[in-house]
Amino acid sequence: MTAQRYIKFLLLAMLLISSPAFPQNDSYIPTQENLASREEFSKMKFGIFLHWGIYSTFAQGEWYLQNAKIDRLEYAKAADAFYPHRFNAREWVDAIKGSGAQYVCLTSRHHDGFSMWHTAQSDYNIVDATPFKRDVIKELSEACESSGLRLHLYYSHLDWTREDYPWGRTGRFTGKDPSKQNWTSYKQFMNNQLTELLTRYGKIGAIWFDGYWDHDQDSVPFNWELRQQYDLIHRLQPACLVGNNHHEAIKPGEDIQIFERDLPGQNTAGFVDKAAEVSRLPLETCETMNGMWGYKVTDQNYKTTTDLIRLLVRTSGLGANLLLNIGPQPNGELPATALQRLSEMGQWLSHYGETIYGTTAGEVSPQDWGAMTRKPQKRYLHITHMPAGGQLVILVDGIVRDAVVFDSGQKIKFKQKKSDGTLTLTIPEHEDVSDYIIELRVKEHD
Ligand code: GLC
Repeated sequence: MTAQRYIKFLLLAMLLISSPAFPQNDSYIPTQENLASREEFSKMKFGIFLHWGIYSTFAQGEWYLQNAKIDRLEYAKAADAFYPHRFNAREWVDAIKGSGAQYVCLTSRHHDGFSMWHTAQSDYNIVDATPFKRDVIKELSEACESSGLRLHLYYSHLDWTREDYPWGRTGRFTGKDPSKQNWTSYKQFMNNQLTELLTRYGKIGAIWFDGYWDHDQDSVPFNWELRQQYDLIHRLQPACLVGNNHHEAIKPGEDIQIFERDLPGQNTAGFVDKAAEVSRLPLETCETMNGMWGYKVTDQNYKTTTDLIRLLVRTSGLGANLLLNIGPQPNGELPATALQRLSEMGQWLSHYGETIYGTTAGEVSPQDWGAMTRKPQKRYLHITHMPAGGQLVILVDGIVRDAVVFDSGQKIKFKQKKSDGTLTLTIPEHEDVSDYIIELRVKEHD
């Protein structure tokens, strides 16, 4: 090697070592339990998100404190009026299970800083600050445990109420004194709360972080010390998955990748800036059933059941899960329209679950005609819109032995090119349904 080449080689090696794709000291090796939990998660395909807190009483969504520039002490008076007398964890769990969802993710503490469990770290919580005095996380965790629904917890990094929270882009009009910011104290508070959540309520399937982006305009990049926090979580519950809605590329210690209001790889909602780049971690897309996350009284803009089924089909076609949100009412009930959607999705999944649960992404990513899911020796073509000319041309990585309509078993005409696996199917005329499914029976290549 010439001297010049040697220097080039050294420079390249240094670049590789320092690039984030080759993390050095912070490289994260998940445990066996964690890997098993990821696999379980990927198979579940469908979960329900619940945004519930004292913001529900204002019925203006979960950002009301910030958007209406309310003083935090005035806002906190809502706690004394929070009495969700119709809350029944069992009923929630039954409705959610009835939808075919396999897990539920509840906001344990949102940006307003109010904790929905009996935390010892602050009195601003559902037991100490409301007349309701019930620990809803405890009740929900028990109901989940006895019915086999997996419980995930949303946890906000950002806090609009606590004075020790380091000032970010939001929460500047709530009457906090900026001189009281104290990262060491706030970090300790969060880690103590996470310790409570992971030691008191049985098995927690995932911690779902949000709010990281609050520091995206800092002049000096803010250090959230995430790795330390993620390690704490994994120490307390190795199988607990860590996800962060930071809208950036995944970071060491994370177990799932989250996409807000977008399918993995898309960037239509404008949240994914640094990297829409899809990782190899299990994927999850979160989306609202109507328009808002937290209950908003004027928001009756519910997606139809057909829309929701098609959304689930498309997320599955990319190998991702759908985390579908509902904003429970201030009285503790899930809105009637949401309940209806849950039950209709459940009816659909009870027939077609086989084509969704446990599947991976199809060879072809979602197209105008629909999406494709995959299992060993099987492919499911979810036709949501009749392809032009009634013909579908796709690539299948295996030898197609048979193609049948999933519902009726009716055989379908197909041709497959030996050279490259291209499959041409003639799609029968059919009634307009949410999703017309064709099953391919495939001999996989060795
Ligand atoms: C955003 C919002 C938040 C919501 C979350 C759900 O980050 O700030 O209110 O909880 O999205 O994805």
